[in-house]
Amino acid sequence: MTTTASIETLSDTAKALVAPGKGILAADESTGTIKRRFDSIGVESTETNRRDYREMLFRTSGASEFISGVILYDETIRQHSDDGASLVKVLTDAGMMPGIKVDMGAKDLAGSPGETVTEGLDGLRERLAEYVELGARFTKWRAVIAIGPHMPTPYCLDVNAHALARFAALSQEAGLVPMVEPEVLMDGDHDIDRCYYASEAALTEMFRQLRVQNVALDCILLKTNMVLSGASADVRADASEVARQTVACLKSAVPATVPGIVFLSGGQADDEATTNLDAINRYAQREGAPWELSFSYGRGLQGAPLRTWAGNNANREEVQRVFHRRARVTAAARQGRYTPSMEAG
Ligand code: 13P
Repeated sequence: MTTTASIETLSDTAKALVAPGKGILAADESTGTIKRRFDSIGVESTETNRRDYREMLFRTSGASEFISGVILYDETIRQHSDDGASLVKVLTDAGMMPGIKVDMGAKDLAGSPGETVTEGLDGLRERLAEYVELGARFTKWRAVIAIGPHMPTPYCLDVNAHALARFAALSQEAGLVPMVEPEVLMDGDHDIDRCYYASEAALTEMFRQLRVQNVALDCILLKTNMVLSGASADVRADASEVARQTVACLKSAVPATVPGIVFLSGGQADDEATTNLDAINRYAQREGAPWELSFSYGRGLQGAPLRTWAGNNANREEVQRVFHRRARVTAAARQGRYTPSMEAG
């Protein structure tokens, strides 16, 4: 049973993660995903390389001015730096909250070719208890929703929403803030309206299930996609249209009690992810919106530092400089205060 005191703590944690000017670094790439990222720079994905690269980001001086929390992967939350400190301690000493991805990935959805359901509920209560011991403050679960000729199906939205709500209820029971993430992919040549309808349907079904399963909506964070044209669409909507449709979609589906919405970058180019986040915040400031609108970027924060590192730890200072700049400009965009000239600083 969740007590009033723990609800207050969860709500405080959720608010702190989306405090003005701050957002979240997603560094929770699974072993398969980080291997793909390392392949792109020609670096072998060993446990030591993964640790060294991530530790470099976490030790960036001044990062906590812009980064409130970092989502870790199971391997990372257990790792230690060469000086013996756990990476969790590195983060907390620097003023950033550790979070943990707890889903076990998206698997083919039986009876619906092309769609997936995210697994990982079996044994989750016990895993969450261990993550609390290891120092986690919040959790993440990602559902993946594809747009295609007959997708997403109501079946896919239903099973993924059900799992997201079960994950969220278990996280709150364990004293962790759940970050619920139904991600509508940008893969495809669809127009922005299709993304709007898929996102609205996914969010509406998820909030229905969250209510059914007694999840406290003021003690969650929503992580979601921006409403975008497909990556390979002939004509792609510009930032002002992305902002208008994203805010309209969220207003239609997300209760005002949710403290914050953090966007994923989803494979947008760094500058596109920044420009769109800035436009969304400017639009929301003009039109009014009840939530903090921040970021939880993986690629959007790490693309440039990863290329700068290129597997060579001697590049550390430059990696940290580049990461600090991406965090600074993204945090400015999260307040609607981004200007392209900031990219030079
Ligand atoms: P991207 O920002 O690279 O999409 O990653 C964020 C994330 O955590 C997806 O689950």
